[in-house]
Amino acid sequence: MSILLVTASPRGESSLSTKLANDLANKLQARDGGDIVRRDVGANPLPHIDGVFAAAINKPADARNAAEAEAVAISDKLVDELLAADSVVISTGLINFNISSALKAWIDNVARAGRTFSYTENGPVGLATGKKAYLVLASGGVYSEGPAAALNHAVPYVKTVLGFLGISQVEIIYVEGVAFGPEAAEKAIAAAIARAEELALAA
Ligand SMILES: Cc1cc2nc3c(=O)[nH]c(=O)nc-3n(C[C@H](O)[C@H](O)[C@H](O)COP(=O)(O)O)c2cc1C
Repeated sequence: MSILLVTASPRGESSLSTKLANDLANKLQARDGGDIVRRDVGANPLPHIDGVFAAAINKPADARNAAEAEAVAISDKLVDELLAADSVVISTGLINFNISSALKAWIDNVARAGRTFSYTENGPVGLATGKKAYLVLASGGVYSEGPAAALNHAVPYVKTVLGFLGISQVEIIYVEGVAFGPEAAEKAIAAAIARAEELALAA
């Protein structure tokens, strides 16, 4: 069993999403065994996809120049990590009502026609099947329910894009309301740890 842990906060040890994602990955490892492959796109940001990438993925390998080959090599490595995983733990802070741009760059690099999805006569088909995903989402406000729920673009977006890649089982762990003072933040962390425990106990 292999767990891919994708963390996307630039805040290092202060990051709540990273802390809780590590906690969940450790619990899944204690349950299933295997390795944790760490991809920290907060500490080590990926290149955003650009014109070089767009040109490169649409031509055969032997027609790519050096910059195009490099762009595809980075993307291929990330795709390989995703395809090899049995479980995928992804974490981010909610940034301006969506995922961080660091995590968006990871998604843009792993969503690859012919590798993680393909177009067929019956429409697109996800190729990254047979795995379960977990999204750890830290936020200043509360978005899992209540009046701000409609402003949570992170969860519907991540579920949509992972579903497109063939990962339909996505569990959400909220670390929310952390801007409402230290007591609220501690409650949010405790609730997220309990939720991780519950998920790790589930088969
Ligand atoms: C630039 C910026 C934008 C943010 N946007 C939102 C937001 O739209 N909604 C929200 O509830 N919190 C927002 N936050 C608060 C973060 O989601 C919160 O601090 C979270 O803990 C960050 O994740 P991290 O602890 O893993 O770094 C924002 C924080 C920053 C720095």
